[in-house]
Formats: sequence, structure tokens, C-alpha cells
Amino acid sequence: MYYDSRPLMNEGTPAKPTDGSGEMLWGFWYPALRSSEIHGRKLARAMLLEVPLVLGRDSAGKPFALRDICPHRAFPLSFGQFDGTSVECAYHGWQFDAHTGQCRHIPSLTADSKLKCERIYAGSFPCAERDGYLWAFMNNPEGRTAGANEPPPPPAPELPTFSELYKVAHLSADLPCNVDHGIIGLMDPAHGPFVHQAWWWRTRHSIRDKAKQFEPIPNGFRMSPHTPSANSAPYKLLKFITGEPATTMIDFVLPNQRFEQIRAGKYWLSSRTTVTPIRRDLCRLDFVAAWNILPWFPIVSFIIHVLGPRFIRQDTTVIEKQGLGLKYEDRMMLVDDADRQARWYFELKAAHLESVRTGQPMRHPVSGPVTLRWRS
Ligand code: FES
Ligand SMILES: [Fe+2]
Repeated sequence: MYYDSRPLMNEGTPAKPTDGSGEMLWGFWYPALRSSEIHGRKLARAMLLEVPLVLGRDSAGKPFALRDICPHRAFPLSFGQFDGTSVECAYHGWQFDAHTGQCRHIPSLTADSKLKCERIYAGSFPCAERDGYLWAFMNNPEGRTAGANEPPPPPAPELPTFSELYKVAHLSADLPCNVDHGIIGLMDPAHGPFVHQAWWWRTRHSIRDKAKQFEPIPNGFRMSPHTPSANSAPYKLLKFITGEPATTMIDFVLPNQRFEQIRAGKYWLSSRTTVTPIRRDLCRLDFVAAWNILPWFPIVSFIIHVLGPRFIRQDTTVIEKQGLGLKYEDRMMLVDDADRQARWYFELKAAHLESVRTGQPMRHPVSGPVTLRWRS
């Protein structure tokens, strides 16, 4: 059975996003840049959802994110000076509070000027630092602050960890595609044997029947805890070094987060991959992992730092090549059950947009536990 996205829309699925057009979701936290990219009073540039941002840390170390556009004449604030409290535009010297974006000073005004500079704002976004990233809460493109009757943003996402001591690693890559193709690539089980062939992982001949249990979770779905695929070497290795059977659990949560937890006795590895829309045609994949498996023997670190980039490069190459075809054809076929997760993603997105539009609670597209079967 296959699903063409256009007929699907006629079957009562709420409008648009089933078409893979890469609509970007507002009202969520996104990782803007790595913590290590900001030192002292340095201003750093980033872009999220086609909004240019300038980020930094105030003198107390608290991070901030402003729209990188001066409200006076659109000069990028990131060319300006930052004194630990206010950002000063390099064109006419207007100063803005780094956190609220409120204008503090306009040097050209005479003492008797009637202009109330405190009514002028540069766009600003709630900002938080977690897991080695500066996150911005993208409530709207202009960076309007939430009105008094709007709820405050939820806490920024955090990678789950399960013991006091652990190691951490980060990887990232640019994906030249819209956010939908980046995300469904992330949850696509069927490309493994073809794209990620490697003697230590799997080959196209290791393809076999899979059956995985899924369940709905708030804003997403979970591949329930299970024993990982016997055809992948890293899991065999994990079993060998811990002496315990491993279980793995994978969550997808809107707008763009994939969490994976591997547990084997007291050992654990927890990772999160996000695919963040930078522009309509460009995403960034950010991967962070924490683990306590053999901290004194860098095998996990080796897997992540040496094999991880190779794995990600295989995905970026495929996405680049796919772009050559997507220029001429944006329809897609979602084939059960291998593409069911991709379908759920589009349905979740549509349900979320519908709930924002109507103010009603989100109607979850996954009604209960379900087993999906495919070969990979
Ligand atoms: S453009 Fe920024 S102060 Fe004039
Ligand atoms: Fe992949």
C-alpha cells in the first residue's frame, strides 16, 4: 500500500504540511549555536527559521538572543559593541537592552526631544543554555515578546542523563534541504542497508524482517524499549563489554527532536539529534550524546568521533543528491510500514498547527500502541 501525499490530503487529513513543503514551526525552542562559540563579550551570529539572530552572554553569564536587525534602519546589531548589558548599534549608536531589546539610548536626541526611546524595541527571543548549546525560543518571526496573557515558554529541552558522572560529545552537519526532508531522513529505517553500509554496521545483505512496537507520547511517538537489532556491531560490542543485554528506546518529539537511550545494566548512553531549520532550503543537524559506558576506555568516544561523522556524511551526501531530484518533483510516496513514522511526523505537524489555529487541544494522530513491520 502506498500513500501519495496529495490524495492523502483529500482523505480528510488537515491541510498542507503533508506535502513536505518544509513549513517551519513557531513556538518551540531551537538550538542556535554551540556554547563554545561565545566567549566573554563577543557577539555571535546565527540564523533560525530564516530569522537572523545575534547572541551573547551578559556580564552575569546569562545568555540572550536578539533579532540581528536594528529597528532604526535595519543595520545588523552584530556589528556593534556589547558592554555586558546593552548592545550598541554601530551605525547611529542606538543602545538596546540585551535581554528585552528595549531601546535605552538614542545619542542623536536633544534634551528636549519628545521621542520616548523606551517604546522602541529590537526583536528579542527567550534564550537558555543547555547541553552545550544556546537555545532560542522562536515564538514569532519579529521577536515580539509574549503579551501578559500569553503563557511563558516551556523550559528549554534537556538531554536526559542517568548518573552523576558521564562523558559528552557533540557533532553537527549542514543539510541542504527543507526541514521535512531532514527530519523524515532521521526517522527513516529503510535507507540503512543502502546508505550506511559498513562492515562494522550492516550491509545490504544483512537486511531482515523487523517488528517494532510504537506508542504515542506528548507531541510525538516512541519506539518502545526493545533489544536492538542483532545485525549491528556496536550493540554486539556493548553487550560484550557490559555483559548485559542492551535495550534501546527512541522518541521523536515535535518540532525536530529524536532522542535515543541505550541502557545495559548500570551503563547508559543517551543521545539527541535535532534537525533545525536555518533557512527554507537549509537545516543543521545537531547531535549530542552523553554516556557512562567505560569512561576510562574511549571506545564510545571513538565510535562517536570517528564513525559518527562518517555516518552523518553518508546522510548529507544522500540529501544533497536527493535535492537534484526534488527540484523537479516534490511529491512523495510514503510506503507502509517503513514510512509510517514519516507519515506520523506530517500528521503530528498538521495536528499541532490545527490546534494552534483553533485553540483546541492537539488531536494525536497515533491512537495507541501499534507494531510496525518492515525490512531493513
Ligand atoms: S541603524 Fe542602528 S542606530 Fe541607526
Ligand atoms: Fe541515515
